[in-house]
Amino acid sequence: VPHPVEPWRIKMVEPLRPTTRAERGDALRAAGYNISLLRSEDVLIDLYTDSGTNAMSDRQWSALLAGDEAYAGARSFYRLRDAVRAYYGYEHVIPVHQGRGAENLLSRCLIRPGDHVPGNMYFTTTRAHQELNGGTFHDVIRDEAHDPSCEHPFKGDVDIAKLERLIADVGADRIPYLSLAATVNMAGGQPISMAGLAAVRDLTRRHGIPVILDAARAVENAWFIKQREPGWGDRTIADILRAMCDLTDGATMSAKKDSYANIGGWLGVRDPELAERARELVVLYEGLHTYGGMAGRDMEAVARGIAESVEEPNIRARVGQVAYLGGRLADAGVPIVRPVGGHAVCVDAAAILPHLPRAEFPAQTLAAVLYLDSGVRAAERGAVSAGRDPATGRDRFPRLELVRLTVPRRVYTQSHLDLVADSMIRVHEHRTEITAGLAFTHEPSTLRFFQARFTPT
Ligand code: F0G
Repeated sequence: VPHPVEPWRIKMVEPLRPTTRAERGDALRAAGYNISLLRSEDVLIDLYTDSGTNAMSDRQWSALLAGDEAYAGARSFYRLRDAVRAYYGYEHVIPVHQGRGAENLLSRCLIRPGDHVPGNMYFTTTRAHQELNGGTFHDVIRDEAHDPSCEHPFKGDVDIAKLERLIADVGADRIPYLSLAATVNMAGGQPISMAGLAAVRDLTRRHGIPVILDAARAVENAWFIKQREPGWGDRTIADILRAMCDLTDGATMSAKKDSYANIGGWLGVRDPELAERARELVVLYEGLHTYGGMAGRDMEAVARGIAESVEEPNIRARVGQVAYLGGRLADAGVPIVRPVGGHAVCVDAAAILPHLPRAEFPAQTLAAVLYLDSGVRAAERGAVSAGRDPATGRDRFPRLELVRLTVPRRVYTQSHLDLVADSMIRVHEHRTEITAGLAFTHEPSTLRFFQARFTPT
């Protein structure tokens, strides 16, 4: 897989700080073996997330200066609203500080205790807000999504039979909405198809169930539809994005992903009554309904970033760079989630460390070893991220136990990714020397992966 030619050049740089193996050992111990608790200063290449870690363009930086910091009715809000309307098509736009702010508003507005919320695999903060409001999450993604080696082109799609079964079991009136992610982060950035979305739309419309899109990486999803789905190859990314949104009733958005912003998000809906309720809540939890926790300048950066995100050279280079990293690992025999997703290469830690019990967290362990090897920080997306079942209190062990190498947009070069690949390949070659896993010494009760501490077993 070739590395793409970047459609931009570098105008400002930030130094990286190399560390010794001894320093990394100290940093890892101080962080309780949790890569989430490392200081960024101690990290060489940071692939923890693609969220808020993107490089903004010169146009976005200039837009910051045009930010209107009025408390009420800021010009920058209307710019943001108009950009969301133009590219995503939702009439009502409620700004929030980031994606989970929108999840909070939506879950509070729509979920009553005892409700059931189906989704195409869970996302950590999304499910946490559903559960906090008394809902039960049901995974209705197709089975292929749980199989790392399966090459299906649209592993993110909903399994219609699973959704029909849930509707029959609990009744449509206990399903406030379907939570549909595009792409699916926890499956490794796998896309949904337009045909699959249309099928979901048909079924849910018959039952009066709204579809709410998690649009954080919907532009990446549109790129995959253009590449892989018959009939869409000649359409623009903007067209495909809009066609996807047109099949949904609303969206929660973390502008820290596709939109190249360092902070920001929005809730977009069509129903004016729902919009009204969300606006009442946003003033409680985020800020006035014309800034929602963002500074005026942030709203400018997001509005500009939305327009850049659908430019074809940008999205081609973005997904192409991730494919390059995936290709290097696959060529060296490192087991990764296939096909390579939009935002990350996910390494199959359960396949690499089959001798470690799942209860000793192979992915968390592998991420720690990778950091020790080279100063590369990945993210754990396995049992630590999955947390405990609120009903039974037991650990959830998803089939996917992944180390996610998440690539920030427009930040790293080919040689940085080669360093990452070389390190992961080296760690893989020495995998049998990893004989101890990790055990909790401190386990937070919600979203435990962020602040947990561990000790080697
Ligand atoms: N939905 C998806 C699919 C996400 O990936 C994220 C964040 C959110 C919602 C929440 O958005 O962070 O702006 O509040 N994902 C980041 C990640 C944190 O690393 O995967 P947020």
